[in-house]
Amino acid sequence: MRLDRILSNLPSLNRQDVRQLIASGRVRVDGLCCRDSRCDIRFFNRVELDDQIVQAGRPARYFMLNKPIGVVSATEHPGHQTVIDLLNEPDKHELHLAGRLDLNTSGLLLITNDGQWSRRVTQPTSKQPKVYWVSTEQPIEAHYIDSFAAGMYFKFEDLTTLPARLEILATYNARLWLHEGRYHQVKRMFGHFQNKVTGLHRERIGAITLDPRLTPGQYRALTADEIASV
Ligand code: URA
Repeated sequence: MRLDRILSNLPSLNRQDVRQLIASGRVRVDGLCCRDSRCDIRFFNRVELDDQIVQAGRPARYFMLNKPIGVVSATEHPGHQTVIDLLNEPDKHELHLAGRLDLNTSGLLLITNDGQWSRRVTQPTSKQPKVYWVSTEQPIEAHYIDSFAAGMYFKFEDLTTLPARLEILATYNARLWLHEGRYHQVKRMFGHFQNKVTGLHRERIGAITLDPRLTPGQYRALTADEIASV
């Protein structure tokens, strides 16, 4: 929200007062004088007017979770345990998921209260490759590699998927690098060859790799470097 709107919410101030206060340098954002009424204030920012705290500013929070199979990627669900239920954090209702995994997919899930950061993670055009380990019902054949690299046509969305890199690890196992996150994308891409995905695990998003010390259901805070990598 704009700085002037936040201050206008104070009962003692009208819009003209607010403009003058900001212009006269009496308003600080995160400890620094701010004279720009249009300054975008997020809920992490601390806003002060002279010695009065207008908004205390909440800490931004970022976590990685090793999502177990059978837990829903949602903040609330009537019939299933959710990934948020796995967190032991105060104010966890303020957190949201930076991307989702299917019920029967495991692995790296990012959780935060920073909407701008999570948008950077999830934008279809994001530069953050998502890396999956895949196992399948039928053998994975060498010609799949070119089809994944060329992109596949998804009729429902009327689009062609971005080039994806497929590395065949064994007869029924592969590692896949995606640069977008379409609905059931991995399963649909293998479905193109009538090859059912029997196991799917996300190992990495951009430079953030699932910490191997986290067993399914465990989580940890992201490091400063991991947060800045997005
Ligand atoms: N693609 C899928 O099909 N499922 C997931 O959970 C993630 C990517």
